[in-house]
Amino acid sequence: MNITVTGSIGNVSRPLIQTLVASGHQVQVISSSPDRAVEIRALGATPLIGALEDEAFILNAFQASDAVYTMIPPHFHTPDYNRFVQNVGKNYARAISQARVQYVVNLSSVGSVLAGRPPLLGYQSLEAWLSALTDVHVLHLRPAGFYSNFYGSISMIHHQGILGNNVDGDVDLVMSHPDDIAEAAAEAFNTLSFQGSTAVNIISDQKTGHELAAVLGASIGRPDLRWVTLSDQLLLSALVQNGIQADVAQHYMVDMGIAIGQGLLDDYYQNSTEQVFGRRSFSEFATEFAKVYQTTVS
Ligand SMILES: NC(=O)c1ccc[n+]([C@@H]2O[C@H](COP(=O)([O-])OP(=O)(O)OC[C@H]3O[C@@H](n4cnc5c(N)ncnc54)[C@H](OP(=O)(O)O)[C@@H]3O)[C@@H](O)[C@H]2O)c1
Repeated sequence: MNITVTGSIGNVSRPLIQTLVASGHQVQVISSSPDRAVEIRALGATPLIGALEDEAFILNAFQASDAVYTMIPPHFHTPDYNRFVQNVGKNYARAISQARVQYVVNLSSVGSVLAGRPPLLGYQSLEAWLSALTDVHVLHLRPAGFYSNFYGSISMIHHQGILGNNVDGDVDLVMSHPDDIAEAAAEAFNTLSFQGSTAVNIISDQKTGHELAAVLGASIGRPDLRWVTLSDQLLLSALVQNGIQADVAQHYMVDMGIAIGQGLLDDYYQNSTEQVFGRRSFSEFATEFAKVYQTTVS
């Protein structure tokens, strides 16, 4: 099959490309950076260099595709993140329809189920636009927080011996390994067993903040690593100081923490009838994390 993958060689797209190429598919990969072309070719895929905001480019990219993997990249430095999400999402929907793509695997989020609430409104819209298309089969993958987010905390872990956000350390956090997401997407493309519009939850593990700190601390030889609960205001200030636009930091990070603390995502899982996919435990990830941590801090 001809498959177009968005998301360049990011956390999910890289392992997805590798599996699709190994399965014999012709894979095109969209990246905004000409510098990535060599690495994409080395994976056995064809680079398509351009911006997801460019409607004509996306239509052209999807034109000869039997199937596409859609995702909206994080773009935390734009003043209006929702506008970016809407622009890219509508480009996808138009191009899929006009190019008569038959199968779409769409990276969504568990946040998409929090209908009418501030976090991740864009994901609800993207799911809705794609599900409204006719003559195309759409599978929405709904992961929770990525394990790979912890790579962004390496400096804080190393210098301060802490880990945390605005969720209390006793609250269960559901999480997803990007490799589990990629595996679910690859299986969907290889089997084409999804019909109409369906969704699958991608949950790799569930742990409290205190448990996460203990597992990661043990893996890097820092048994003193602690989970610290930040106030909403402190988390917002820290994110903004790190260059993230206030609007994005508030809606996509602080509000998400509040929703998790209120048990909204947990309620969703308890009541969800969607299939659940996830194989890689947080302890397995901790071994991968330790290698990256040691290389980064040494
Ligand atoms: N992190 C979480 O906890 C979480 C939870 C639930 C859902 N999600 C979903 O997962 C997404 C992230 O997936 P991921 O981690 O696999 O992605 P990723 O590693 O962030 O990679 C995305 C890639 O897309 C490319 N890109 C960025 N802007 C672009 C543009 N304007 N046009 C074309 N390409 C562009 C970039 O590569 P180039 O530089 O090569 O262009 C970027 O590295 C989130 O945005 C969200 O949709 C995340």
